Amino acid sequence: MDESANTDPPSDFDFWDLDEKDDWQTPPALIADLQDALDGIDLDPCAHPESEIGATNWCLEDGVDGLSKSWEDYETVFVNPPFSYKTEWLEKVTNECTNDPQWPRTVVVLTPDSTDTKSWWHTYIAPFADYICFSEGRIAYYENGEAAPSPTFGTAISVFGDCDSALLDTLQQWGHVVKTVTQS
Ligand SMILES: C[S@@+](CC[C@H](N)C(=O)[O-])C[C@H]1O[C@@H](n2cnc3c(N)ncnc32)[C@H](O)[C@@H]1O
Repeated sequence: MDESANTDPPSDFDFWDLDEKDDWQTPPALIADLQDALDGIDLDPCAHPESEIGATNWCLEDGVDGLSKSWEDYETVFVNPPFSYKTEWLEKVTNECTNDPQWPRTVVVLTPDSTDTKSWWHTYIAPFADYICFSEGRIAYYENGEAAPSPTFGTAISVFGDCDSALLDTLQQWGHVVKTVTQS
């Protein structure tokens, strides 16, 4: 056997063209529902150059790095990270949550529903997310204004912080919602 062969099990990376799919956009229907439930989204720290999900939108292509800026001035934050940098973005989310004396605020994060993944799911989502919605069916993301083909995995919509009844109702329309239990 070729010792250099990659014998790692397939990860969600295998299902994405990392350059193109890192730009895939959240479907407008999900954004509209979240905006309604949250009474507007204050910040999208990883925005697409052509989208305006938040009242404030930071985009690397416009020279603004949402990973290095503080989110503390924003009550509601929506994060659909470039999936090849999930770990970095989830580390940022949990740092913002745990270092913020004003917490709870609400940070909503989209990721694949890869519940077995140690490096980011069990490091950041399992211990720190308060609610997780597992999508009913596959959420089709958008590319150039059109729905792209369905990914080969479901989406998890994780809520860090406050999740009021309006947000809970909305999440229940998109899938199966669970509340996490953490041991102190
Ligand atoms: C998966 S897309 C999501 C776009 C949009 N937020 C949405 O949900 O439709 C991630 C976007 O993050 C932007 N991005 C990547 N790294 C970034 C960074 N460090 N700071 C700000 N924006 C970034 C890219 O422009 C890319 O379009």
